[in-house]
Amino acid sequence: MTLEIKNLTKQYNQQKTGLSDFSITIDKGVLGLLGPNGAGKSTLMKIIATISKPTRGTLFLNGEDIAKNPDSIRKILGYLPQDFGVYPNLNAYEFLEYIAAMKGVGGPGLRKRIDMLLDGVNLTADARRPIGSYSGGMKQRIGIAQTLLNDPKVLIFDEPTVGLDPEERVRFRDLISEMASEAIVILSSHIVSDIETIADEVAIMKSGKLIDKAIPSAIIGRIENRVFETTIAHTDLEAFKARHQVINTSRQAEKTQLRYISNATEMEAGARNVTAGLEDVYLFLTQNQH
Ligand SMILES: Nc1ncnc2c1ncn2[C@@H]1O[C@H](COP(=O)(O)OP(=O)(O)O)[C@@H](O)[C@H]1O
Ligand SMILES: [Mg+2]
Repeated sequence: MTLEIKNLTKQYNQQKTGLSDFSITIDKGVLGLLGPNGAGKSTLMKIIATISKPTRGTLFLNGEDIAKNPDSIRKILGYLPQDFGVYPNLNAYEFLEYIAAMKGVGGPGLRKRIDMLLDGVNLTADARRPIGSYSGGMKQRIGIAQTLLNDPKVLIFDEPTVGLDPEERVRFRDLISEMASEAIVILSSHIVSDIETIADEVAIMKSGKLIDKAIPSAIIGRIENRVFETTIAHTDLEAFKARHQVINTSRQAEKTQLRYISNATEMEAGARNVTAGLEDVYLFLTQNQH
């Protein structure tokens, strides 16, 4: 499985650009798509899911042009849109049967598959209740289940962990790891901790562009030995920000405690070197640069 995306541009109108000359190659495994709101994550996912057409650029799945043959990807696609709508009067079981019919999935194995998926997202006990009575997290979980009905080889989850509690996140991660051995799985989020533990690779987007893509440890390596913590007087903060990229600050009674990334060879007096994390690099790459 290889998805090769080249020079993708999505121009919504004269003011709004969703993607700007975006290129990426995605192999099997879990790719975490990370970027602030408006970075173009949903635009990219809609184009891969063939819901939206690019203004320019090409997508090839295993060498096949998706624009010429959209069915080649649709047949093997599972897609959870960011604004996933459900049918409030159907129960979970009926809803999955309905989606299965739309996807052309059927046969004697269907009942078993639905039972397995309902179990996978922990909805077995609520499967006969109308979806309209579900909580946000439960709706999100039925949304996750419907992506897996057709044994997909390309899975796209747009902000899937929104509304999930920590336990549900772990379940989601387990479910995804099972699928990902044979499939391309793309997950988006604007929250680093949602992606960090699931993704084999991370792609960081900003303003419709790809800024970086690598395994998490390699991305973290970009700022190795350059993350520091220190405490300074409140009045020194502005001057400090002019010298270094401040990642976060916490105001105390007397002083401000801060975490920052430094290019300078000379260390600030009193600062201590700390272990870099994915969150640091993400902020470093997506905030205003020094
Ligand atoms: N249907 C649309 N019409 C006009 N502009 C849009 C539309 N959808 C998205 N955009 C714009 O495209 C950019 C990328 O949006 P989006 O792909 O939703 O980003 P993300 O999912 O990373 O938050 C934003 O500037 C957004 O305002
Ligand atoms: Mg989005």
